[in-house]
Amino acid sequence: MWLDPTSAVEARTRASAKHSLARRFRDVRKTTQRLCAPLAVEDYVVQSMPDVSPTKWHLAHTTWFFETFVLAGRSGYRPVNEAYEHLFNSYYNAVGTQFPRPRRGLLSRPTVDEVWSYRRHVDAAMNELLAQSLPRELETVIELGLHHEQQHQELMLTDIKHVLGANPLAPVYASAPAPVASRAAGPVSFQHYAPGLTQCGHDGEGFHFDNETPRHRVFLEPFSLARRLVTCGEYQAFVADDGYRRPELWLSEGWDWVRREGIAAPLYWRGEELFTLAGQRARQRDEPVVHVSYFEADAYARWAGARLPREHELELATSGQAVEGNFMESEAMHPRAAATDGMSQLYGDGWEWTQSPYTAYPGYAPAAGALGEYNGKFMCNQFVLRGGSCATAVGHIRDTYRNFFPAAARWQFSCIRLAKDASS
Ligand SMILES: [Fe+2]
Repeated sequence: MWLDPTSAVEARTRASAKHSLARRFRDVRKTTQRLCAPLAVEDYVVQSMPDVSPTKWHLAHTTWFFETFVLAGRSGYRPVNEAYEHLFNSYYNAVGTQFPRPRRGLLSRPTVDEVWSYRRHVDAAMNELLAQSLPRELETVIELGLHHEQQHQELMLTDIKHVLGANPLAPVYASAPAPVASRAAGPVSFQHYAPGLTQCGHDGEGFHFDNETPRHRVFLEPFSLARRLVTCGEYQAFVADDGYRRPELWLSEGWDWVRREGIAAPLYWRGEELFTLAGQRARQRDEPVVHVSYFEADAYARWAGARLPREHELELATSGQAVEGNFMESEAMHPRAAATDGMSQLYGDGWEWTQSPYTAYPGYAPAAGALGEYNGKFMCNQFVLRGGSCATAVGHIRDTYRNFFPAAARWQFSCIRLAKDASS
């Protein structure tokens, strides 16, 4: 067959993309499996609060995604169990009904072994499919399924941390070297950004979620950003200054939350110690404070005479920067102290709360069909977080990435970076 040079290049690109998608599928699925290696079978089933899903459910749900959106209805594919559609559908109303999220921990069946075998069944069908030439639309859905699974990898880590943290034995998920007593961090310094018109959002080249689009213009007033995350030592000074007992520092809803829930410190603080995925250990002054809610981040910022950044300010700060930092692959499984006095920790370590409500960008349109339920319908009562964490896969994050959680959530690796209004 004759091919003009352009088509030949395109054909080669398509062939290599096919191989890389197949390879990526195997890599992502294997990473999920590897994250389970330290667990005992009993760990897979526990649900410690309504927001936490059992590990077993994550394993099945990420598999259900490929079965439902890629394999279902294809000739030759037979589902393992029709009832899984209801059990492992998270929130897709267009697909069907869902088992209630707060009750996922009641599912002792299917067993962990049966869920592993469900994964193997779907993997075999997917590997067979990925060996063929696929329409671009289907490749896009598979790519989405892989990014979806990476999101769940992070949730598996934060959820198992919550499960193990609820246990007085403070079990170790995986040992990690204890942080060396870090160099004393000096007072935090701020980097100034001049006012101006900037472009925010994804330009459409390469994978992205629909909530990152369209790219649009934003005018930013002059501002400055702290060059590192807030440390445990700094946050301890807020606690010691009665930070949790002074209503003037808190948003009204935050103050109600503190009193209602009896909150007096970040999640996982245990006296002078800290519960981590590597077990309980002494808290280091200079490591970032983590597992704080939006309410806590906001109150701390007010106490410190600053504010939380806006999402577009952080996007400008990360724009064009290499995605490097303390991610899941470092296996530290905890934020680390800043290594330099320069702008640091923008990527990795901990998600940074922004004061930006999670809403649609101008001109946003959700994807068509059931997959349109992925992001758009959650644009209410949540705040945007940026930058990824020590539990995020490095290949999953980018400067336009928008994570989002309600203001009281703090079981994610959420941290604080201060910002200030500045004069031009
Ligand atoms: Fe999901």
